[in-house]
Amino acid sequence: MSTTENPTSHESADNAPESFQDPGLPYHRPRRADVDPKADKKAERQVAALFGLSILGTIIAIVSYMTLKMDGQIESIRFTNMAIGFGIFLAMIGIGLGAIHWAKTLMRDHEMVEERHELRSSDEAREGAIQNLKDGAEDSGIGGVKRRPLLVGSLVTAMLAAPLALLWPQIGNMGANWNTGEFAHTMWRKGMRLTRDPEGTPIKASDVTIGSAFHVIPEGLNDLEHGKLEEKAKAVVLLLRLDPRDLNLQPGREDWSFDGIIAFSKICTHVGCPVALYEQQTHHLLCPCHQSTFDVANGAKVVFGPAKRPLPQLPIAVDDEGYIVAQSDFHEPIGPSYWSRLKHTSDGLSSDETDGSSH
Ligand code: FES
Repeated sequence: MSTTENPTSHESADNAPESFQDPGLPYHRPRRADVDPKADKKAERQVAALFGLSILGTIIAIVSYMTLKMDGQIESIRFTNMAIGFGIFLAMIGIGLGAIHWAKTLMRDHEMVEERHELRSSDEAREGAIQNLKDGAEDSGIGGVKRRPLLVGSLVTAMLAAPLALLWPQIGNMGANWNTGEFAHTMWRKGMRLTRDPEGTPIKASDVTIGSAFHVIPEGLNDLEHGKLEEKAKAVVLLLRLDPRDLNLQPGREDWSFDGIIAFSKICTHVGCPVALYEQQTHHLLCPCHQSTFDVANGAKVVFGPAKRPLPQLPIAVDDEGYIVAQSDFHEPIGPSYWSRLKHTSDGLSSDETDGSSH
């Protein structure tokens, strides 16, 4: 294959100078505030206004914290957090924007040049540093365990023990209640209706069309005076309806669903995020936190991601009035795995079944 060469490229390469002249700094344009006293005053007022906004935000945050009361209802918690958060947002953004505006409009606008210099120290300085280290080791006696065994031994012990000062409170702060059995039970009871989250209205089997998904809470949850959020965090359920022909009922669970309607815990078995994304075509439930994917058609087994066991299934039935009700509580603990979980599994499932995933 023949090639044609571009003579001009040769030419320009030959004529290229060996070095380029330093073009120097570009032309310096003064800012408006540098040349116009009115603009300078205006910029100063703007910066002060931004700092004032920050002060206002701080006041809002403190007053909200001191005056707004959380009574356990979601609305009051949400409102209080929003008010405090809004105050903190204003406090931070006011300072940030004010500082940037100040720097850009009012601080000195001189071009500064920092010459580069060699980073490596001179040979003498390097030798001096090494000698200093040697002298330090010699003076402290660390170099000779035999000379000061007491000091070396106590130093090693102190270094090994020091992390405990950080770790001990962390472990203590995990709480004195180590009764993991509390995770094994939820509010669900035999005959309790499945109701819409958050309204609490019961759901008829005829409401659940094929392909639909309902976010569900137990009947009466909204009436709880104490511990409502804790109970909700454990009992939330996803109710779905598949074509019964697509549903591969798991052994021992043939009567846990109704005409393709099936219910699973919404709490991811990885680390407990709400599994809320349903792919109707594939029948997959996706956890948005780390992408664990559960196959609803096959007992919500894990088909992808870090979760290690299927979503627990809530046995359901339909009452005389056509409403969907629970047959019982879950038969296994909901949520992430923990060390004594299998002790609390009460339905006699083998550990393979309760732990089973496609991995
Ligand atoms: S919490 Fe669901 S995948 Fe991690």
